[in-house]
Amino acid sequence: MRSLISILDLSVEEIDELIAVANDIIDNPKKYAEKCHGKKLATLFFEPSTRTRLSFEAAMYELGGNVLGFSEAQSSSAAKGESVADTVRTVSCYADIIAMRHPKEGAPLVASMKATVPIINAGDGGHNHPTQTLTDLLTIQREKGRLNNLTVGFCGDLKFGRTVHSLIEALSRYTGIKIILISPDELKLPSYVKQDVLKKHNIEYVQTTDLEAVMPELDILYMTRVQRERFFNEEDYLRLKDSYILTPEKLKTAKSDLAILHPLPRVNEIAVAIDDDPRACYFRQVLNGKFVRMALILKLLEENS
Ligand code: CP
Repeated sequence: MRSLISILDLSVEEIDELIAVANDIIDNPKKYAEKCHGKKLATLFFEPSTRTRLSFEAAMYELGGNVLGFSEAQSSSAAKGESVADTVRTVSCYADIIAMRHPKEGAPLVASMKATVPIINAGDGGHNHPTQTLTDLLTIQREKGRLNNLTVGFCGDLKFGRTVHSLIEALSRYTGIKIILISPDELKLPSYVKQDVLKKHNIEYVQTTDLEAVMPELDILYMTRVQRERFFNEEDYLRLKDSYILTPEKLKTAKSDLAILHPLPRVNEIAVAIDDDPRACYFRQVLNGKFVRMALILKLLEENS
């Protein structure tokens, strides 16, 4: 059974193919309108979501399929103590494919060992978020016309940011990538990502606390939220939450073709005044998420049919 748990489950060729299919869906939506007729997607969200869950659901509807599921653990039998393994064995009886978000790292992997239909990891704790990565890659490809020869700045919570970890893993397999890691000391990229990904692939990288100092170099600025839900201590969260706030003033030295991405939700880290700047890509990124999830649903259903 082919599932998607980590972005590394896909080869670079497969990612490029998914991006090509997503671009074709954008250009020719009618061609895909009945591709999933009679198929059902289950969205099992044990943790809050707006974009990921609703884009999966919109994706399946636009492919002519149907959707079932739950949007919080409390409305499922997990609230009575049912395990993830039993939940997905049960839902495999009702659906052809499952998208699952869970606060525990590894829960979607466990699910994929027990389910009899493909599992898509829609975010597991501070670990991975591969469909956000596909969204980010499609956005970078559409905005910059390439996925290589890019200087990419990641700013904010690089410690718990699962979207950051997954995107670094993905970009490390392309050529000419330079990574700039911008965070407070307490929220630095975990050393296992530096060791197992950046060093292993000989990716040039720099760590800094100073966003403005590196701004002129960047082709991509990937802003992230400091995530209250990942902190054990409210005091630490309050101290760190406004470490970086992107304002028009701070963009003065940026390239004219910089692409500003953010997986969203945003809290304070990008001033609303930037939303109308043509370099702000984050709402186009939201839309791209639906198209690339359509491409992924098609791929996994075809491969597992
Ligand atoms: N980017 C993202 O995962 O957003 P949601 O938490 O709203 O799904």
